[in-house]
Formats: sequence, C-alpha cells, structure tokens
Amino acid sequence: MPGPGAYLIGDEEKKALMEVIETGYLFRYGDKSDPKFLAKVWRLEQEVSKYLGIPYTVAVNSGTMALWIALGAIGIGPGDEVIVPGYTFIASITSIIYARAVPVLTEIDRSLTLDPEDVKKKITPRTKAIMLVHMLGNPGRVDEIKEIARSNGISLIEDCAQAFGVKYKGKYVGHFGDFGTYSFNVFKTITAGDGGMVATNSRKLYERAFAIHDQGHLPLRQGVERGSRTVIGLDCRMTELSAAVLLAQLKKADMMKKLLKEKKKRFKEGIKDIKGLSFRDLPDPEGEIGTLLTVFLPDEKTARKVGDALGCGVVADSGWHVYNNMEHVLGQMVVDSTGCPFTCPYYREKGGSMEYSRGMLPRTDALISRAINISIGVFDAGLGSGFGINITSDDKEIDEKIARFRKAVDKYL
Ligand SMILES: Cc1ncc(COP(=O)(O)O)c(C=O)c1O
Repeated sequence: MPGPGAYLIGDEEKKALMEVIETGYLFRYGDKSDPKFLAKVWRLEQEVSKYLGIPYTVAVNSGTMALWIALGAIGIGPGDEVIVPGYTFIASITSIIYARAVPVLTEIDRSLTLDPEDVKKKITPRTKAIMLVHMLGNPGRVDEIKEIARSNGISLIEDCAQAFGVKYKGKYVGHFGDFGTYSFNVFKTITAGDGGMVATNSRKLYERAFAIHDQGHLPLRQGVERGSRTVIGLDCRMTELSAAVLLAQLKKADMMKKLLKEKKKRFKEGIKDIKGLSFRDLPDPEGEIGTLLTVFLPDEKTARKVGDALGCGVVADSGWHVYNNMEHVLGQMVVDSTGCPFTCPYYREKGGSMEYSRGMLPRTDALISRAINISIGVFDAGLGSGFGINITSDDKEIDEKIARFRKAVDKYL
C-alpha cells in the first residue's frame, strides 16, 4: 500500500461514500432545495480552505490538472518560461508543456527543493513564473524563492502535491504563492484514489481557476449567463464520491502528521550516529509532515551498494521524478531551427532558445545519485522509497528496519 491516507481508510470513509450513493447525487451540482443533496465537493472546498487558512479553493480531479489550471489562470502560455526543479514528479514539468510554455529546468540543493542561487541565474525577460515544489513532505526555501519572485515581478506557484499538511514558519504551504496546488492520489497524505485541489488568496484568480475547471463558469455556475463568459474552460471537476472520501480523510490529517513525525524521529535517532551518513536539509523541521527520511551517503558507489542491498536503489533512479529519466520530455522539448511541437514560434521571436539533455543539472545529479529515500509513510518504488516503514508500523518493526539499514550501511561504508 502506498501513502498514509490509503492505510487509514476505514468505516468513516465507507459511511460517507454510502451516504452519497444513497442520495443519488453524484455530480457536484444538485438541487439545493433537496435536503438529500449533500454538496460534498463544495463542503470539501470550505473545509480545506479552513484547514489551510487559504480563502479560495477549487476541488479538481488530479494534482496534474490543478497545476495546469493554476498556470492557465495566471495567464501563462506560448513564449513564457517557467522555472521548475529537475527533481520533481513529471507532472510539474508536463503541466508547463501543456500550457504551451517552456519549462526551465533548475538545480536543487541539499533540501531537495529549488536552489535559490540557480533560480536567480535562470531568470530571463521571458520568465513568467517559478514553480516551487515542496518535495517529499517538506517545505522548500519559501522565503528566498518568494523574494526572488517578488523582486522580479513574476508569479509563484507552489506544487504541494507531496506536502498536504506541511507548514513553513507556522503557515501551511500553498499560502505563499499565487496558487498552491495539491494531489489526493493514492500516494499522498489524504486520498480518494485520485483528486486534486487549487488554492489561492486571490478572488480574481479563484474565479479564473474555477472557470477553467468547469467550462468557463463562475463559482457554482452562478452569475455567468450565456453570452458573457470570458474564459474558455474544460471539465476537471471532482465527483461527490471523491469529496465524501476526502472529507473523511481530512479529519485524520493531523493525526497522520503526528504519527508520521513520531515514527520518523525514532528512525532518525536510530541511524544518526552512523559515520559518513548525513541528512537532507530541512528549511523548517517543525513544519514537515514526516512522510520520508532522505539520507546522503558519501559517494555514489557506496550509495548504490546500500540502495541495492535495501532493494530501493538511489534517488537518481526514481524514474518519473528525475529529469534525466524523462526521455520523451528531453527529446521532444529541444527547441531548434526545425521548431518543436510543444512550443511555438513566439518563443524564438522573443529571443528564447532552450535545449534539454541528460546531465544538464550536474549539482542535482551529484546529490540524488548518493541519496536514498527511506519510507516513513509513502511506500513507492517510483519515488525510490521501496524500503522503510509505514504509518501503521509499530516500534518493533521500526527497530527491525533500522537494524536492516545499519547492516547494509556497515557492509559498504
Ligand atoms: C510533486 C508532484 N506534483 C504533481 C503531481 C501530480 O498529481 P496527480 O498524480 O494527482 O496528478 C504529483 C503526483 O505524484 C507530485 O508528486
């Protein structure tokens, strides 16, 4: 089983789901005068807003679409550049491509999130936004990145897909940019199998995001008559079934965070004395949700041996999360004299040129090739976290896994 929420699905989710099925209202819109209509999607939006302290939210069908909607609502399109880390789930990059913009792959640092120094170097007159990805249950370097966005007059999108419930200096991530986006797929903190959320402090951006997610309508399909719609939208709506499950899961989010942090603490204590081993930098250790524990070995050779012994490999091999492994993106995105299907002539007219290749982010490569992700609450081979514990692991199991880890490291370090 993958993420913490998935382990904790129980009677509460089952009851909420059955309630919706019995009403017959599965669509987010229903007859408001009928007491049977429970408006679960709307209620989820209100509850998540309250939980995160962000006034406007739109529930959608995935974290990928949440990103694409945020880009569209900000007005990012052909010819624009968006700064994005080379270590992130592929959707951060592909959502930019599908917005017909150009992803500018950028280095990470020891926090495994955007390196502010490299972000500064990547800014051009075409830069329209920075996508800060709060990776592996931890916040990125919010203050530094926010300041770079502010001083350059560009937008900030926080990809919080792996960070629902994470805080930075006392506030939930997603609060700091123009948009925060979330995923509720099965590997995430709370889940309904799939699902997503867009959050913003701006009423104007909210209305645009809502319209993009639902055929150009204003919130709740009110106030926009035929003939006066200004936004062309699609259908990225969430169903009442997903929202029912997520409402039940949301009630468990704080408990999940507490459990994960306790288990992570025990694991970390159990290996922290190992010489030559170091931990990932945490921009706010208090704010993390504790889903993963990332360690650095002194060099790639040792890390690979340890990763093989544990059966999880090194982070550099976590397929869909590392730009080097996205061969279709690297291949398709070369903007040369023959043009490119994903970009448009405006980009070259604006003076842009971009080439993508394996090894183009040497500092990212060097870091992730000697890093190992230990699962505390997200068991996911695709994330390189096929070794570790889960949210239901007891102390005995944690200690066994610590012993296994120490044995593997002792052999090779
Ligand atoms: C960082 C990041 N961004 C975006 C997404 C996309 O979310 P979804 O799978 O819900 O489309 C994910 C999902 O794994 C992710 O980890």
